[in-house]
Formats: sequence, C-alpha cells, structure tokens
Amino acid sequence: MTDRLRPIGVFDSGVGGLTTVRELTRLLPGEDIIYLGDTARVPYGTKSRETIKRYAKQDFEFLKRFDVKLIVAACGTVSSTVEPGELGQGLYTGVIEPAVEAAVRATVSKRIGIIGTSATIRSGSYSSLIKRELPGAVVVEKACPMFVPLVENGYTSRDCLPCVEIAREYLLPLKEAGVDTLILGCTHYPIISDVISMIMGSEVKLISSGGEAGRRAVRLLSENSLLSDKREGGRVTLYCTDSPELFRENARHFLEGLMDADIIGCSIE
Ligand code: DGL
Repeated sequence: MTDRLRPIGVFDSGVGGLTTVRELTRLLPGEDIIYLGDTARVPYGTKSRETIKRYAKQDFEFLKRFDVKLIVAACGTVSSTVEPGELGQGLYTGVIEPAVEAAVRATVSKRIGIIGTSATIRSGSYSSLIKRELPGAVVVEKACPMFVPLVENGYTSRDCLPCVEIAREYLLPLKEAGVDTLILGCTHYPIISDVISMIMGSEVKLISSGGEAGRRAVRLLSENSLLSDKREGGRVTLYCTDSPELFRENARHFLEGLMDADIIGCSIE
C-alpha cells in the first residue's frame, strides 16, 4: 500500500476522541481512520502518571499494528502526561499544542480558562504553554472530573439537571474570572458544549481540543506529503476494549456521520 493510502490512527480512553474523528472525516472524507477507545479502562484522568503512560503505550502499540501513517492522541490526559518520545516512533500529535495555538489566536482580553481532567490540570501543560506563547496571559484552570463519566453514560443534554448543576459548580469560578476563551482541554467536553456554553455565556469562545487536534493532523499529513488523494469513501473503523453495543449506545448522540462505522471489540493488554 502506498504511504498516502495508509490509515490514520486515533485513540482516547473512551468516546471523547470521536470529536477528533468527526473533524477529520469532515476535512478529509477520503481517509481511512482506525479509532481506539479504551472503554474498559476509562477514565484515565483519575489515574497516576505511571498508569496513564502504560495504558497510552498499549493504545499506541495497538494502532501501530494497522500500519497507520499518523497517530493522534485525542486525549488531553495522555497528551499532557506522557511525552511523545515515551510512546514510540512515528508521526504523532497530541491535543495540547493545537488547542493552545487556537486559544492564543482567539483571545482578545488575554484571559483564558482551561478545563480538563484532574491529571491534565495537575500537569500544568496547557497553562505553561499558554504563558510561553502569550506572555502576560491570565490563566484560570479547573479540573472537572465528573464530566467524563457523565458523557460516557450519555448525560449530555441541557435538559439533564444533574449535568447542569455539576457544570455550574465547576464553571462559575471561570465565568467570574471573566475569561473570554475557554479551552475544553479534555476531548469529551465538546460533547457537552451546549451545557458549557449555556453557563459561560455565548460570548465566551470555546476551543475544542479534539477538533483542533484533527486540524493539526491535517496540517501534519499535508506537510509530510501523506494526504490521501481519495476525496471520498474513507472507511472509519472503531475499536473499543469494552462492549461494542455499549459503545454504540453511549456514543449515539455524536456518531452522526459515523453511523456506518464498524464497531469492533478488542483486547490490548
Ligand atoms: N478524553 C480524555 C481526555 O481528553 C478523557 C480522559 C479520561 O478518561 O478521564 O482527557
């Protein structure tokens, strides 16, 4: 197979990385994509660095078996905790740099909020990069550990009262701090962007780390002359480490456009 026709690999702990897949399929409908959601072990964001690194290496190795031309760690927790060199060789992107780049472009007041998993916020990866790229920026961070279980269980709508209450608790300090741009530093969070936007107000720009990683992937492929010349008909295959039926059920709200994708159970340990 020519290099350009090799698939793109994308992984996350669960369904959140589909925010990257959606962006990739929108921009590059001819590309084949292999996705891995490690649903048997989600969430990663409450785990130790050593455990996250071990899981991420197994995810990476799994995708390598498909001779992928690029791997996207569509996971803020992995991207902020594990150095690319610790995962293995090959073309790679995480979500931190693309999301920070977009936030720095978007902010006017230089007041930027970051929300993510506990491991991501603890790592300080987003904030240190923002401060390097935008000296004088005021950064306000908040870990939102309940968001991933809510999303993985399908509680994503503005009508879900517990979801709104939890979001209010997490987000009010950021709203009060007057941020004009908010990085959704975990790829699960764009799935509840309606709820987040309702609380933050429509004037606050939301940056999807998963979506930005998708755009960065396109740039990397282009720079390395690895874009497929197919313009349509790309195949998306979704692997998950827990039940495929549950995956389809939990992801049904944002599988739109991916409903034809095969969902296959697998083991990666
Ligand atoms: N989507 C992952 C992230 O971006 C979720 C992490 C988790 O499993 O806790 O951080």
